[in-house]
Amino acid sequence: MRIGSAFIDPPVVLAPLAGITNLPFRLLAKQFGCGLVCSEMVSANGLIHGSEKTFRMLETVDEERPVSMQIFGADPEIVARAAVLVERAGADVIDINFGCAVKKVVKTGAGVALMRTPERAEALLRAVREAVAVPLTVKIRSGWNRSGDQALHIADVAQRSGVDAIAVHPRSASQGFGGCADWSLIRRVKEQASVPVIGNGDIACAKDAQMMMTRTGCDAVMVGRAAIGNPWLFARIAARLRGEEAPPVTMDRRRDTMLHFVRATASHVGETHASFMMRSRLGWFVKGLPHSSRFRESIKRISSIPQAEEMICAYFQELGCGAAVR
Ligand SMILES: Cc1cc2nc3c(=O)[nH]c(=O)nc-3n(C[C@H](O)[C@H](O)[C@H](O)COP(=O)(O)O)c2cc1C
Repeated sequence: MRIGSAFIDPPVVLAPLAGITNLPFRLLAKQFGCGLVCSEMVSANGLIHGSEKTFRMLETVDEERPVSMQIFGADPEIVARAAVLVERAGADVIDINFGCAVKKVVKTGAGVALMRTPERAEALLRAVREAVAVPLTVKIRSGWNRSGDQALHIADVAQRSGVDAIAVHPRSASQGFGGCADWSLIRRVKEQASVPVIGNGDIACAKDAQMMMTRTGCDAVMVGRAAIGNPWLFARIAARLRGEEAPPVTMDRRRDTMLHFVRATASHVGETHASFMMRSRLGWFVKGLPHSSRFRESIKRISSIPQAEEMICAYFQELGCGAAVR
């Protein structure tokens, strides 16, 4: 799939996940064959005001390219100025958040609030389009209700404003992440759009990804929650879309991936912060494995990176490395 000048192969995208899709997480997805990785949402205001914490979210390396960085904000001029900074930071694609339904964001007029203010949405997208040269995308929801009419309208507005692709998460603002994603809306947007459409929502396995493509005709699939602690899913989806079966993930591979994640996180945020993060994040990777609750209990005590590495190695030794899982 092409998003403007960016070539996305395979057509599989890591969804933006606030607090999760930082650089080390994205690198894992990339390592297992994800076609396009996406940053967490980054505040336009934070960038404009020079927040160091916000700028750190833009950190990238060549290895993860192409990378999309997502901005949220409500003011066209501020978001356009932020987009210039994001482009300078190395984004290959810039995505604008039209989907966040968190109160704190919505009350500022950003996120899904933009779906009920189409004039502002258009002004914002046009301002960003004029400010940057990299491909531009927008990630939308169904809208404020489930009918999907707002999604169809905003998709049209977005296209006219020069976006290069539209990602659709077909849940309404009030649904949050509850209920089911209405894939039929992805099909309706695809039928109307002249730019590529990225389908998102409730993909839990490779079969779901293929099914979404077949049922909706979308150009690419986007995976969020199912990728947490499961970067292997990208290899499975890519293989399935090629009509192949990915080899099962061995325990050795799983252990090495976790070790890699620990080290990459330590070099990204420093050892102290990384140790703290590992107390919960390592638990993601052992879901469904034997003795995983005991492992999750033990990692709560992590206070250094060598200790985290030791715990991972001891756990996998106990399980007996080499056996294929999942
Ligand atoms: C913890 C979490 C954080 C999220 N953060 C963002 C975000 O920063 N930007 C965004 O557009 N969507 C965000 N989303 C929504 C996801 O990108 C995605 O649209 C949604 O989870 C549905 O896809 P899934 O069923 O594959 O998870 C977030 C979702 C979750 C669960």
